[in-house]
Amino acid sequence: MSVSEAFIRGIPKAELHLHIEGSLEPEQMFEFSRRNKVAIPFKSVQEVRAAYAFSNLQDFLDIYYQGANVLQTEEDFRDLALAYFERLNADGGRHAEIFFDPETHTDRGLPFSVAINGLLAGMKEAEAKYGVTSGLIMCFLRHLDEASSLKTLASAEPYLDRIAGVGLDSSEKGHPPSKFTRVFKAARDRGLKICAHAGEEGPPEYVHEALDILHVDRIDHGNRALEDEALTQRLVKQGMTLTVCPLSNLKLCVVHDLKDHPMKRMLQLGLKATCNSDDPAYFGGYVADNYIRTAQAVGLTREEIITLAKNSFTGSFLDAASIANHIAAINAYASAN
Ligand code: HPA
Ligand code: ZN
Repeated sequence: MSVSEAFIRGIPKAELHLHIEGSLEPEQMFEFSRRNKVAIPFKSVQEVRAAYAFSNLQDFLDIYYQGANVLQTEEDFRDLALAYFERLNADGGRHAEIFFDPETHTDRGLPFSVAINGLLAGMKEAEAKYGVTSGLIMCFLRHLDEASSLKTLASAEPYLDRIAGVGLDSSEKGHPPSKFTRVFKAARDRGLKICAHAGEEGPPEYVHEALDILHVDRIDHGNRALEDEALTQRLVKQGMTLTVCPLSNLKLCVVHDLKDHPMKRMLQLGLKATCNSDDPAYFGGYVADNYIRTAQAVGLTREEIITLAKNSFTGSFLDAASIANHIAAINAYASAN
């Protein structure tokens, strides 16, 4: 028997792979465009949605960076974050560790403070309003050079007590983790947690580099690690968390049919997979939709859904006591439902 949608939506969960700029819904894009008098090359919400047909990561990134141009003020970032947390709360989300891309904003002339102050305000309000906790992960754009990421880390210095970790995103192929050795070492020296997108489009070698050179605490995506059996075994043995994003994988043609998605295989292999939305406004679903559609496509069992939910907390950067509370809440939910 398949697991009910209501059970999946309601199970307490954390989201560990979410680009806040990727939660910009077309309606909000028009609203910010009007309010900030920033032109966008679309006439209607339908036209925007129709443009979201991607054949690879770069196709998506081109339109995603263009969409981010409408974000101009702290209020915009605050509103963006609050809208995301409202949806997360409706999806059973109790915690999120959200990515943002400072260089996307500083490179078009915004001061470093605008995005981060707005996001921190939205995160604080969301906790008061919904009881949903959150952490912030500052990503470096890998298509830019390391000097740019070092400059970004320096700009973040006054905020380091409010940043949980750093990440690496944008165009993967041709931009290996090793390009960012020094900035990740500097981030580690400052006590920040380390994430990196690896093995989404890039080869297993990039996952090796993320482990050996960046010393990651989590691998974002990691799909292509499955091509390398020794690497897969290593990830299992280390208990390395993978932040897997099924609907993103489908939209960016990492998989061609959700039925071919490796989520079930990952769990059967003993990999510590989690289920996440990546850029939900662009990929057609928030976190619960990712769980539900994957469960339907590959036949996830109730126990596998519970494992994914538990992995989302044990793979988070929360303290041990908070993790234990969330695991207890999942056990109570599973007993009652
Ligand atoms: N991969 C790489 N960079 C990104 C992504 C992604 O899925 N989403 C936003 N930036
Ligand atoms: Zn991502």
